[in-house]
Amino acid sequence: MSEDTIMLLHVRSLLNRFITLAILIPVVALLPSLAQSGGNHPWMNTSLAPDERASMVVKEMTLDEKITLLHGTGMKGLSPMSPLAVQSDGGAGYVVGIPRLGIPGIQMSDAAYGVRSSGENGRYSTALPSDVAGAASWDLEAGYQYGALIGRELRAQGYNMTLGGGINLTREPRNGRTFEYLGEDPVLAGKMVGSVMKGLQAQHVIGDIKHYALNDQESGRNAVNVNIDKRSARESDLLAFEIGIKESDVAAVMCSYNRVNGDYACENQWLLTDVLKKDWNFKGFVLSDWGGTHSTEKASAAGLDHEEPGELFYGPELKNAVEAGKVSQAEIDDHVHRILRSMFATGVIDDPPRKSVVDVMGGFEVAQAIEEQGAVLLKNDNAQLPLDAAKVHSIAVIGAHADVGMISGGGSAQVDPPGGNAIMPPGKGNTYWQYHIWFPTSPLKWIRAKAPGANVQFNSGEDQAAAAAVAKSTDVAIVFVHQWESEGMDLASLALPDHQDELIAKVAAANPHTVVVIESGGAVTMPWVGQVSAILEAWYAGSRGSDAVANVLFGDVNPSAKLPLTFPRSEADLPHPTVVKPGPDSIPNYRQHDVWKQIATGLAPFQVTYNEGLKVGYKWYDAENKPVLFPFGFGLSYTTYSYSNLKVTAGKNPRVTFRVTNTGSRAGAEVAEVYASLPAAAAEPPKRLVGFSKVELKAGESKEVSVEVHPKYLSIFNVDQNAWQLLPGDYGFMVGGSSQDLPLKQTVSLK
Ligand code: BGC
Repeated sequence: MSEDTIMLLHVRSLLNRFITLAILIPVVALLPSLAQSGGNHPWMNTSLAPDERASMVVKEMTLDEKITLLHGTGMKGLSPMSPLAVQSDGGAGYVVGIPRLGIPGIQMSDAAYGVRSSGENGRYSTALPSDVAGAASWDLEAGYQYGALIGRELRAQGYNMTLGGGINLTREPRNGRTFEYLGEDPVLAGKMVGSVMKGLQAQHVIGDIKHYALNDQESGRNAVNVNIDKRSARESDLLAFEIGIKESDVAAVMCSYNRVNGDYACENQWLLTDVLKKDWNFKGFVLSDWGGTHSTEKASAAGLDHEEPGELFYGPELKNAVEAGKVSQAEIDDHVHRILRSMFATGVIDDPPRKSVVDVMGGFEVAQAIEEQGAVLLKNDNAQLPLDAAKVHSIAVIGAHADVGMISGGGSAQVDPPGGNAIMPPGKGNTYWQYHIWFPTSPLKWIRAKAPGANVQFNSGEDQAAAAAVAKSTDVAIVFVHQWESEGMDLASLALPDHQDELIAKVAAANPHTVVVIESGGAVTMPWVGQVSAILEAWYAGSRGSDAVANVLFGDVNPSAKLPLTFPRSEADLPHPTVVKPGPDSIPNYRQHDVWKQIATGLAPFQVTYNEGLKVGYKWYDAENKPVLFPFGFGLSYTTYSYSNLKVTAGKNPRVTFRVTNTGSRAGAEVAEVYASLPAAAAEPPKRLVGFSKVELKAGESKEVSVEVHPKYLSIFNVDQNAWQLLPGDYGFMVGGSSQDLPLKQTVSLK
């Protein structure tokens, strides 16, 4: 889709929305408040269990009321609008409540790295650093704070459900949503999303983990059929979901657009019922991605509980199916029960949100702290960093609009910047779908503040010769570069766009003290890696990105993040050197008014086969002996660490203890990583992450670290027995500071 088309659609959708509102507000004003909750009903007794409370409500409900809870109220372009949609708070989804029974509506908002659509609704949200930056912190407490902030801001804006929680593994690093996800490893991603959802649900907001499952590329996402063997799926992408769901008891799971092994994910019996609801004992509800429902009976029987955004299949069609005996009452009751028990369990009925002022200052602090923990120092030759403000007399700041802002990730994750897009005139900035949005957080300003005695000049980098000339005249050159990503597209390549590679090479040739700061959603290739002295991966750095980056550059913060995904040397080394693209029949035509019909009735499938199987990310490069640019788990610090005294105690949950020492002269935090190799009979890639711990250490300090390893992380999935299996044999435990720097090793026999 071109940007013009998208903008046209957007303008049309706004107009339609306005007209709908003008006609319907007087009608709806007469209805009782649908947001009202509580009352004196017996199920309002908070000492009862959520399941008990839900069962009591279900007993009182009519079929119409039940159906009401099983679908949303529409979205222009994707599903016709219900008049009741005007009760929506402005988020992507709205479900009408049952005021007679004290059940409030569900107000859903996208909230991947902050609450979406705040601009359009006249509100403000904090932009956290992108989700992948949160994962790079390897800090579960940071993850909790990430979720808690989003939960607080959702509530302040009147929402009681998030649509965040993206966790698709980085199988395809060019996936345009990599920034919204948590990297390539199921244990790191699963634990991190678990912490984010714990933090969020603690604010009494319904959590969500998405997109279930294997929606690992955006190209042709509404049509693609992903082929994967079940063992690989269970040990990789699905394991991430399994861990996240179990760690957080998340209330909702969003099924994805794509097909998996022949069936759409949202009507896939294996995914929704056999694995999610039976094997994992998931008690919450499954909602479809927007326009991801494709049937009534099949989807309902497969385990889809709720259709979004409208009622194409789960409104009158579902009622008819129940009345005709094609869908059983018990099946409907199960869908409804799951939604209600989730509402009770998360507290949205007992403690409904009240609109209030978003805590802007508090949000800034969290956003900055997470960026400081998430920015990865990839290279630092000759201790180029931290910069010493007392010694640096002149600095060139070059490129990526670093005078005014830092870029953010697009699509339904987009958070709106205060004042509009930083690279447009004030007041003119809008956040149309897939515009490149720069947050008003100026690296130049903060670098000047850090080095008040230095002459700090900015050059846009458009004229590369001029940029190199400025760099030549200064002590240090800091080149900011960016790689923008969004939902609805994949990257054409991992190379930096807009001749930024040449810019870096020219600046580096002019100044031997060149530092590169990358604003990207995932891995980028670096033909200039050997020519620069320092590289900082800042990701999409959020509302306070510039302060955080300046703190790292000048050493007020000692970097402690590690890569949650591999940076390959080139695309030729990826499992799939090119992204498989859809044919014309597999792409929805957004120019047509009934595009939703094409999507709903099903676009022509095309095949993507994940024949690399369980070799995702570092497991691929390890198994294939391919050298990488920067390995999974890698990241430098301004101090150094050493590892010693490994002890592995066998047992049901093996325990790995070791000592980490800060051998340098300043305090820091080290992410200690524990990997295991399985017995040869398991036929697994050489190693997998089985645990980690972020340890704070003062200069010279030493701490004993103990990591308990869940037996599942050492197991393989036996498809014939439909069970995890710990094979008897020798397990190698490896400990260190990166997947390719594991100084401690011990082999232990487990049975
Ligand atoms: C995205 C979801 C999002 C939904 C609602 C879909 O296009 O894939 O992640 O939550 O829209 O905005």
